[in-house]
Amino acid sequence: MTAELVSQLGDIVGPAGLITDPDQMAGYLTDWRNAYAGAAAAVVRPGTTDEVAAAVARCHAAGVAIVPQGGNTGLCGGAVPDASGRQVVLSLNRMRRIRDLDAANQTITVEAGAVLQSVQEAAAAAGRLFPLSLGAQGSCTIGGNLATNAGGTGVLRYGTMRDLTLGLEVVLPDGRIWNGLRGLRKDNTGYDLKHLFIGAEGTLGVITAAVLKLFPALRSRATAWVALPNPQAAIDLIGVFRELAGDRLTGFELMSRQSVEFVLRHCSGARDPFPDHHPWYVLTEVSDTLPGADLDAVIEAALGEAYERGLLADAVVASSPAQAAALWALREGISEAQNHEGPSLKHDITVPVSRIPAFIARTDRALEAALPGIRIVTYGHIGDGNLHHNLSKPAGAADEEFRARAGELARIIYDATHACEGSISAEHGLGQSKRDIITDYKDRHELDLMRALKHLFDPAGLMNPGKVLAEPSPRDRRPL
Ligand code: FAD
Ligand code: MLT
Ligand code: ZN
Repeated sequence: MTAELVSQLGDIVGPAGLITDPDQMAGYLTDWRNAYAGAAAAVVRPGTTDEVAAAVARCHAAGVAIVPQGGNTGLCGGAVPDASGRQVVLSLNRMRRIRDLDAANQTITVEAGAVLQSVQEAAAAAGRLFPLSLGAQGSCTIGGNLATNAGGTGVLRYGTMRDLTLGLEVVLPDGRIWNGLRGLRKDNTGYDLKHLFIGAEGTLGVITAAVLKLFPALRSRATAWVALPNPQAAIDLIGVFRELAGDRLTGFELMSRQSVEFVLRHCSGARDPFPDHHPWYVLTEVSDTLPGADLDAVIEAALGEAYERGLLADAVVASSPAQAAALWALREGISEAQNHEGPSLKHDITVPVSRIPAFIARTDRALEAALPGIRIVTYGHIGDGNLHHNLSKPAGAADEEFRARAGELARIIYDATHACEGSISAEHGLGQSKRDIITDYKDRHELDLMRALKHLFDPAGLMNPGKVLAEPSPRDRRPL
């Protein structure tokens, strides 16, 4: 049956769109961190929405599950197939077209396989801004950004992918095409279905295209790197920046010394902006649409006020775009640098901004008691209350022994998150990694409704099964 299906898929997408050679499939079967690995009957790479629809319909008729995949930069195993070798990976990486840019409507219509950076560049070429910005932007795709409701460093000012999306085109699990590609900022004609597919991690359908919001280009920018004594000072500092910069505050990222130390150790060209070590740092950016706006003055006023209030240990304002880029590289290099220190256990939690200092103090105490010497790599989008509370093994410890403690260490972080009324995933999603543990933290009626929706959209359970929600039991298959 599988061989016949693979040959039918080949007829739909042509030789350029079908991969069955194990060596060529390998890159599609493990994730960016090599934390998950699977097998597949084939990787199918359609070139058009009609080909996606025909391939999905064919798999549906054969009862074969599909795993949608974009840039494969996801951090929780959502785009990796299971180990059975029966699933089909459906990669959108041949569907990269910018279909339309409507400057007056401030929208861009793109195919799901378009790489985020190429969309930013298309917007910039038209004097506009597409503001989603994250470390993986050179390889992650719009489809993956939508399916994970990606966040990143611009959420503070522009919101998450959900806030940036006006319309979607989706291939449903049985192969029907839903054309919801509307570029409307107002549309009250019933349930807003696009929000179900955004953040669904490919479990409800394959996103093939989207209408996204554009903004005026930013023509002035100022960037500062600030050393702080503790996380509370960072919370107070963001308050000062909000008051003085208002909407011009477009970046506010927190980093612990441990995070920066990994970057200094592993990223070539990285340089510590200060001669002394400090426990915490903030990278902040203020931007304006006006060319030549004196934003250094805004940053200096905020830093002056913060200094008066005793919040700062040291600060430097970038004196050129190259220096600003070097400061951003210190922040963006953390994920990559941490991979050089053994397994990196990732936790992307969110709590109310005001509770971050208490969360860090409580969690770090418990982690250090559980595993003395553990290296806690805390950083993130603190203006959104979102911390990457990542963990590396104690220096010299064995990888396998550390991995064996992953569940227990995650539990410490998630219990503290829950106690602070937070969420165990702020931006990366549940995928495989948090699929089971989420049931301990999310309201049971909410989970029941999610299972019922999954069943409504995908009664055969063939669209990215085993992600977000555990395999449905017969009890879960009941209607609402
Ligand atoms: P993939 O990894 O290919 O897929 C992710 C999920 O989406 C999977 O469940 C997959 O099945 C589903 N999917 C993919 N395409 C489609 C589609 N067309 N239709 C339906 N489902 C689909 N994330 C953030 O939010 N903020 C960050 O700041 C951030 N920084 C990162 C930095 C680094 C260095 C790395 C490696 C990752 C980072 N990420 C971040 C995580 C990741 O880049 C994002 O989750 C991104 O949105 C994933 O896009 P992708 O195309 O790689 O998706
Ligand atoms: C980031 O913001 O750099 C990523 O989302 C975090 C990570 O890689 O853990
Ligand atoms: Zn992040």
